[in-house]
Amino acid sequence: TQRKPLVAANWKMNGSKALVDDMTHSLAVVDFTAVDVMICPPATLLPLFPQGTAIALGGQNLSQYDAGAYTGELSASLLLQAGARYVLVGHSERRSLFSEDDDILLAKVQQAVATGLIPVFCVGENLQQRQQEKTTEVLAKQLAAVYASHPELLAKSVIAYEPVWAIGTGEAATPEQAQQAHAAIRQLLARYDTVAASKVRILYGGSVNASNAAALFNEADIDGGLVGGASLKPAEFLEICRSAK
Ligand code: G3H
Repeated sequence: TQRKPLVAANWKMNGSKALVDDMTHSLAVVDFTAVDVMICPPATLLPLFPQGTAIALGGQNLSQYDAGAYTGELSASLLLQAGARYVLVGHSERRSLFSEDDDILLAKVQQAVATGLIPVFCVGENLQQRQQEKTTEVLAKQLAAVYASHPELLAKSVIAYEPVWAIGTGEAATPEQAQQAHAAIRQLLARYDTVAASKVRILYGGSVNASNAAALFNEADIDGGLVGGASLKPAEFLEICRSAK
């Protein structure tokens, strides 16, 4: 199966109007026939990106609700209207710092898909779980929470594998470790929809930088990356985008 790579930026709570301009300018030279590029800035910056470029945009989070009295929340439809085509769901920071559990995350994936946003559903084990050799078990549970009851959502999703111990630590998974987890994820998803599992893009995230991206993206089941810190540096993020083919 030919899966077009996707390199996604997660700016987290960083960035500015100036970074929007710098990044847009730097990425203009990307060969978008070879790689899809997507940026998840803080939602207030979404409308500041110029229209008509090949750079896709995404939200970092969305509400599980449609609309109503939910002060401070953003719905799928508001994100869509602000220019987003994708939305991260279940980033480990949302899971751990904002207590998002399996039920909420299923509702969020459903909400995204129902509104026409592509969810980038994030999974990954923490250090203790890896040391206890529970990685596959953890991934299976996280994936089952969405796709066991709603296998039809898989064909509409992107998956991101982000081992918690590699996020923001400068210690990326090795290409072998990442490939092993990605292959396990694809195999677990095949239980729910074999065709969709072979087509779904699985991104690696966790300390991706310009030096390690090419080796990671070269692995058979790694279809691009979800980049945090290095996605705030236009020259480095450009190089990471160019590493995907
Ligand atoms: O969503 C992005 C990840 O959390 C990775 O962040 O590249 O700074 O390790 P990082």
